Amino acid sequence: MKKKEIISYFIEYNSTSELPKDDAMLVEKAKEAAKKAYAPYSKFSVGAALLLDNGEIIEGNNQENAAYPSGLCAERVAIFYANSVYPNNAIKAIAITALTEKGYVANPIPPCGACLQVMRESENRAHKSIRVILFGEKNIAIAKNIQQFLPMTFNKEMLK
Ligand code: THU
Repeated sequence: MKKKEIISYFIEYNSTSELPKDDAMLVEKAKEAAKKAYAPYSKFSVGAALLLDNGEIIEGNNQENAAYPSGLCAERVAIFYANSVYPNNAIKAIAITALTEKGYVANPIPPCGACLQVMRESENRAHKSIRVILFGEKNIAIAKNIQQFLPMTFNKEMLK
């Protein structure tokens, strides 16, 4: 029997003024994107902003549906759009936040499991890590890659 331990690292900040310039800019884009979400059912408007390696910024937000499972998270809306329009450009970073009736969330909201799986695929496809910036009004958490959230990921090697 062998016990294996996996350690994840997140860097925390208290305000966007402490963030590196590109991260702060991406957070602003995610906040703007959240305002345009279509979330009449959950009233939880998520915004995501991606920075591509060509300098392009892609925004996305959650798109809900009366048939609930037909909706899609903000992260996947942004990532699938980026990968479809810029198939050869890596995603360098993603900023994520959410807006409720009370304003932006106080603490960071991590991406759901399905979005993490999609982000891992994008990392593998481009051979580049995706930096994650999770914005909350009281706390901002940054991870250097998706592995920090999803250390054991199903991937194409397992299909062989
Ligand atoms: N949502 C996202 O957009 N991203 C996530 O990572 C978690 C959840 C959306 C889906 C749904 O529209 C609403 O938030 C409530 O779950």
